[in-house]
Amino acid sequence: KRAIKVALLGAGSVGSQVARLLLEQADEYERRVGTRLELIGISVRNPDANRDADLPRELFTTDAQTLIVSADIVIELMGGITPARELVTLALESGADVVTANKALLAHHGAELFELAERVGAQLYYEAAVGGAIPIIRPLRENLGGDKVERILGIVNGTTNYILDRMHTRGDSFDESLRIATELGYAEADPTADIEGYDAQQKAAILASIAFHTKVPVDQVYREGITQVSIEQIEDAKRAGYVVKLLAICERLTDEQNGGEKVSARVYPALVPETHPLASVHGGNNAIFVEAKAAGSLMFYGAGAGGVETASAVLGDLVAAARRHLLGGPGSGESMDADLPIVPVEEILTSY
Ligand code: HSE
Repeated sequence: KRAIKVALLGAGSVGSQVARLLLEQADEYERRVGTRLELIGISVRNPDANRDADLPRELFTTDAQTLIVSADIVIELMGGITPARELVTLALESGADVVTANKALLAHHGAELFELAERVGAQLYYEAAVGGAIPIIRPLRENLGGDKVERILGIVNGTTNYILDRMHTRGDSFDESLRIATELGYAEADPTADIEGYDAQQKAAILASIAFHTKVPVDQVYREGITQVSIEQIEDAKRAGYVVKLLAICERLTDEQNGGEKVSARVYPALVPETHPLASVHGGNNAIFVEAKAAGSLMFYGAGAGGVETASAVLGDLVAAARRHLLGGPGSGESMDADLPIVPVEEILTSY
């Protein structure tokens, strides 16, 4: 069987780990998939930049387009919308399956990309876009695909969890905690996306859309970050038996007026009782607490950020895409046609 050609776009903290592991574990993947996964190139802005892994210089290119059209599977780890949107579109149009960790791209343009993938019979994989190493996308789409998800309470941003946790457990300052979170590789290139809640907002839009089979536009997810949370508020909460956590809350609600259902998605610092499983999520970890009609409560927990941890989710998607490629199976696009109304946050009364 001929090798499956894999193109990588981006070699930042996640991309360089994906490339390293893909090269180091090539023989193992060949056994698992049944054919070789050949990394044909890595597109980067600057081939001479310092990277977290020592990668063969000859793989680097600045010509993403040429690389994409030669690939069977394209892994997009550049982040941001431009030029990722154009490049993912080109990859799908040229018949490649795409693996991405790009939450901003999916939250803003997911519907358009899923439609394109469906049309061309390609598949878009994005396990790494939410919760880093934690399997959550496939469990929601597939394992819980026969159940009815009622509510998700998620700690989906490692940086803010790290900061709030240090403030709570050690009384450290916000600035010092952010500095360490950045050093640990949790924060985005611009940490405003983390501390102002934009990163969690994008992840909430993705989770709500899959869980409720309806399009939840990112601008309809209420958002508040953690920059206004003071050490005094955290200490008051602690004395009262609560922990302050930045939660992404996605809920299915009954629409009493119209008799149907509606959904709400929102992100803000919330008081979590210290007895709740989410209260014990420390450091840069994430956890997604899912309440489903038949399954009851489930919690998905683990490393929510970090280069090598997130690379695990990307490589899992790559192996799934490679197996599908060999089988030549049809794409199974997202179905988001439930069309549920989204509730403005002012109408929400809840303890979280
Ligand atoms: N900046 C993100 C976080 C990385 O802190 O969770 C993972 O998406």
